[in-house]
Amino acid sequence: MPLFEAARWAPSSYNNQHWRFLYATREDGEFEQFSELLNEGNRAWAENAAVLVTLVSKQTFDHNGAPARTHSFDAGAAWQNLALEASRRELVAHAMQGFDYEAAAQRLDVPDQYSVECMIAIGERAPAEALPDELQEREFPKGRKPIDEILHHGGFAD
Ligand SMILES: Cc1cc2nc3c(=O)[nH]c(=O)nc-3n(C[C@H](O)[C@H](O)[C@H](O)COP(=O)(O)O)c2cc1C
Repeated sequence: MPLFEAARWAPSSYNNQHWRFLYATREDGEFEQFSELLNEGNRAWAENAAVLVTLVSKQTFDHNGAPARTHSFDAGAAWQNLALEASRRELVAHAMQGFDYEAAAQRLDVPDQYSVECMIAIGERAPAEALPDELQEREFPKGRKPIDEILHHGGFAD
């Protein structure tokens, strides 16, 4: 719950709080329904998570029904808050786009005006040796693009 509490305080356009978190814990009957949405590569490790989450966002504003251009962006801020709180508590929160978006919308009864954004696995970090060989190879710290590739003084052309 503290992870979702952190997510709840993310900023959003018009403070509309477009994010909705659908979740199942390992103890829940629905857990398998969530894990079945994942592609094979993700399911191999994510089905051992404590919690699986599907993050969806409302595409329109509550106050006037107009399209909310930044609904995905705002849901992304909420996800990052959740991930940072997880990290602070020495838990791991891992976002995933490798799952069946249409099946998620259908099986989790997501209303039409909501978009499925991503799934999130939350749990304690397991040793890399618990993974199949091909996934173990991907267990190394990931770098980032250099700052001069992502930072432009003035317009994009500069
Ligand atoms: C929206 C989103 C979707 C992602 N989808 C997947 C995924 O389906 N499977 C996976 O193993 N990692 C997925 N990742 C994790 C990224 O690959 C990972 O964050 C990136 O490689 C950087 O690694 P780091 O977070 O360990 O620094 C996703 C991350 C985000 C933010």
